[in-house]
Amino acid sequence: MSVLSGKKILLGITGGIAAYKTAALVRLLIKAGAEIQVIMTPASHQFVTPFTLSTLSKKPVYTKFFNAGDEGGTWNNHVDLALWADFIIIAPATANTLAKMANGICDNLLMAIYLSAKCPVFVAPAMDLDMYVHPSTDRNINLLTSYGNIIIPAEEGELASGLVGKGRMAEPEHILDFIDDYFNTSLPLKGKKILITAGPTYEPIDPVRFIGNHSSGKMGFDIAMEAAKRGAEVVLVSGPTNQKICHPLVKVISILSAKEMYTVCHDYFESVDAVVAAAAVADYRPKHVADQKIKKNSEEFVIEMDKNPDILASLGAIKKKQFLIGFALETQNEVEHAKQKIVKKNLDLIVLNSLNDKGAGFGKPTNKVTFIDKDFNLEPMELKLKEEVAIDIVQKIIDHYA
Ligand code: PMT
Repeated sequence: MSVLSGKKILLGITGGIAAYKTAALVRLLIKAGAEIQVIMTPASHQFVTPFTLSTLSKKPVYTKFFNAGDEGGTWNNHVDLALWADFIIIAPATANTLAKMANGICDNLLMAIYLSAKCPVFVAPAMDLDMYVHPSTDRNINLLTSYGNIIIPAEEGELASGLVGKGRMAEPEHILDFIDDYFNTSLPLKGKKILITAGPTYEPIDPVRFIGNHSSGKMGFDIAMEAAKRGAEVVLVSGPTNQKICHPLVKVISILSAKEMYTVCHDYFESVDAVVAAAAVADYRPKHVADQKIKKNSEEFVIEMDKNPDILASLGAIKKKQFLIGFALETQNEVEHAKQKIVKKNLDLIVLNSLNDKGAGFGKPTNKVTFIDKDFNLEPMELKLKEEVAIDIVQKIIDHYA
């Protein structure tokens, strides 16, 4: 049974094109067994009709403090409505509404209810790409988070303007999953935060060339998805990849080089409970990066290299509570090398994959791994889909915290 069953939900709809999706959202919430009270801002009437929403929610929809034609002095009491709700969803939340919420501006019924609410408030922003990345929107979202509101991240894709990028309101199904996960305390990684690295790093030589490797990012993305499905909040730091992920609990941070990955990992490390380092990080980077494209003027071309920081080892050196899982990609003396990495990087567990095993390693949909714990116990696994390997890895984190 959904955790939404029997819940009283106040759905606030504001004036953006994504408002058309709220008809589907109301249907899904009703199907999950929730009772819905829809509140619309005047601007939202341009995008979806109150009649549609009152039909689907089986209740009158409110927009104003006073209803038209009501001469009896009754009004839509914002305080009572706020107290009635077990929680509030504001979807879509336009840039304008986010700004009002962040600054306590109370010029419509929905904002009066918001300011009166004592219950959890979920906010699903939706706007065009440039509005979404504007510093003021970013600041307003951060302010709302600091007030304890729960942001349901906007999704990537084609926007109504024709631009492609982040800013779409989360799909109704994803909003339901997000809220379900939020209240579902039975998920084993609920309340845990996990940092995952994925993909290759690109080490620039000049403006058009780089040193990279064959990592597709799939292994790391699969681990991120599995961890989020089990309730963890995930920070996924990824090098260049074609992989896509869409889960409200996953925050993707894209980087290019090992140094950038190092900085992001250290920014988040203190706040996380576990780390899974699936990225194939370049061990060296060109000493000098040319400002202009290098011309082929000589028969030989030598690149001097500097050693990159070992990100995982640097995290291992300062770890306190964190459960640290590393990967080892080997081509010879696999177990010996993996054991050395456990010690050198102060790991709790290493996932060894060898390029000598058919179907293992880079770019493939499968992997064959051996788990080695810090006491050097070996657990060889069969060849599996990377999604299945991800389940096994996430289970190790769950077992650790059980
Ligand atoms: O992305 P896919 O195509 O799905 O392929 C998955 C994978 C083969 C890349 C993945 O399963 C894998 O093995 N990742 C680690 C590859 C690697 O760089 O291994 P390593 O033995 O060189 O490094 C050991 C560990 O230290 C790794 O966890 C690595 O992320 C980390 N490391 C390495 C170097 C460095 N400078 N900083 C690091 O943090």
